[in-house]
Amino acid sequence: MKGRRTVLLGLGAATGLGAVAIANHFQNQQQSAQPPLEDRQKVRDFTVVGKATLQERAANKGIIYGAAAQYKPLTTNKRFAQHFAQECAVLVPANELKWKTLRPTPEKFNFSRSDWMAEFAQKHNMLFRGHTLVWYQALPKWFEDKVNRKNAEKFLTEHINTVVQRYAGKIYSWDVVNEAILPNSSKQGLRQTPWLRLLGADYIEMAFRTAAAADPQALLIYNDNNLEYDNAKTETKRDRVLKLLERLKSKGVPIHGLGIQSHLGASSRGFNAKRLRNFLKDVASLDLQILITEMDVSETKLLVADDRDTIIAGVYHDYLSLALDEPAVNTVITWGLSDRYTWLSHFAPRQDGVPVRPLPLDAELERKLAWNAIASAFDQASPRNIKYNF
Ligand code: GLA
Repeated sequence: MKGRRTVLLGLGAATGLGAVAIANHFQNQQQSAQPPLEDRQKVRDFTVVGKATLQERAANKGIIYGAAAQYKPLTTNKRFAQHFAQECAVLVPANELKWKTLRPTPEKFNFSRSDWMAEFAQKHNMLFRGHTLVWYQALPKWFEDKVNRKNAEKFLTEHINTVVQRYAGKIYSWDVVNEAILPNSSKQGLRQTPWLRLLGADYIEMAFRTAAAADPQALLIYNDNNLEYDNAKTETKRDRVLKLLERLKSKGVPIHGLGIQSHLGASSRGFNAKRLRNFLKDVASLDLQILITEMDVSETKLLVADDRDTIIAGVYHDYLSLALDEPAVNTVITWGLSDRYTWLSHFAPRQDGVPVRPLPLDAELERKLAWNAIASAFDQASPRNIKYNF
């Protein structure tokens, strides 16, 4: 892999970072989520040595780091584009490959934005990742009127063929199906979506098989949210997702990995290390890769007086250390790179109007504590024995 470099681990330097805020934060978590004291002290040290970028530190361990971005900031903010290319080994178009953007009319495709982004990735020697071929959201307005039981299969397979073939050899990995599971929504936990209604449960399999035929080299991923925390609903969701993956594998469906979105919350109740590890191990035992695909940390309930950056960094470090313990986890993608451009400023803004800080770089594109936390999680990860063949 490119950018290999020896990175020294930050050793034992005391950080003195907002101990009270952290203590309060952790008190809110469930007992089972608490790592032993010495571990908690260790993970609160976000010191890293050297100036190596996130992609270099990740690559040093055989891990791929990248981020999602939108066309507009990449094309209008040169400094942002430069930082993006420095820190990231992967670019994921946040919206530009969704149906709504690609399909202005039932007959036409508009690839202008995604083509530009593919070129940007190529020019900067980055991998380009596709998101997403089948989702129940971001469908164009015409979809409901135009797509019916008779033609749904044709729409789905033509869409996948056209888009995947266009980027064959350019997009190394696709989120083929996004968010198909919603626990308790149906027998197998399949979410009620237009695709399920029009095509039945086999739409998932159909999407993977079509994508594999359109680009046999691409890594084909099933991507979903709400898989991270420790509560009954999430446990059921993990179970349903695992069952879906098992079913697909047992039918010989060409699927290569699970994407765990990892939109986390700074005030959430925490992870259950054992349950999460077991889940990752179960997924890995199906011979699937695991990708963290959309990580960020929202902070709606934190006070401005809290040491927000430290708490958010703590979530990054706790989660990534845990996830990266599983060798099958080989990719970490954040949903954005800079706080200047984050969906959370609209979707989960703070009530007091203070800008949110969910990402590795601040709004001025400076590295902040979340950056350090990710960097140190990479530095501390065990090396993967994976040779990537891009
Ligand atoms: C979901 C989707 C992404 C994106 C994020 C938030 O997780 O998978 O495409 O829309 O929500 O923006």
